[in-house]
Amino acid sequence: MTTPKTPVADTGTANPVTDSPAAGDLAAVDSATADFAAAYPVRPVPAQGPVDTAPIATTPAALHELDGLWQAVVHETRTRGNDIHLPISLAFAERLCRAYPEADAELVRVATLLHDTGWAHVDESRIISEGFAGDWRKAAIRYEHEKQGCDVARRVLPGLGYSMEFIERVCMIIDGHDTRPVAKSLEDALMRDADRLWRFDQAGIALASSWFNMDPATYTDRLAEEIVPELITQAAHDMASADLNRSIALLKTAVIR
Ligand SMILES: [Fe+2]
Ligand SMILES: [Fe+2]
Repeated sequence: MTTPKTPVADTGTANPVTDSPAAGDLAAVDSATADFAAAYPVRPVPAQGPVDTAPIATTPAALHELDGLWQAVVHETRTRGNDIHLPISLAFAERLCRAYPEADAELVRVATLLHDTGWAHVDESRIISEGFAGDWRKAAIRYEHEKQGCDVARRVLPGLGYSMEFIERVCMIIDGHDTRPVAKSLEDALMRDADRLWRFDQAGIALASSWFNMDPATYTDRLAEEIVPELITQAAHDMASADLNRSIALLKTAVIR
């Protein structure tokens, strides 16, 4: 069954590398990167739809059609706080898709939901010691969790009716989501921004600051200096700025430092 492009979710309500890519794959990635850069020359990419900067808890991920996928990866959510990180990231992904209605929302949502499931299939003792210290973006275990995440996608998605073509598009985004320096498509960019935006919410600061062994003040400083410049879309910049201001005020990081 092919998976049709589905509409963007309505707003919810609150109540070393394991293996090397083939030369052909690299060429395809480079070509896609160039195409994306040419199609979206203005950075940050301006939003075409509404941008919601309210706290993410006011618009949880709304679509129940992904419940079967969640249930297929419950085991994978129990590693490295994925059961917090992935639902919040998916809520941001849905919000970003409303701001960029030209994106394939289904692709963004499925890639975001699955992108870090590979952490459940690597050596857990190395996740924090290697994956969140030093030059962590180039750590071997980072590459490993990306490859393992693709394996999870290829294992669980066929049984849920997704086409092989769609699954490979999901894997193209998951593979390199942390280690590849540039995005290859708008959908790739939205997944990357959703993956970063959750860190600006208080739950993200609470969890991720501990991974990096930083106090909240040091961590929020890092968000502003290091993570904000990595955001690709204007909507993500607006959401990050609003969340960071709220979190800094709430956690009193100007004083408690
Ligand atoms: Fe990741
Ligand atoms: Fe992530």
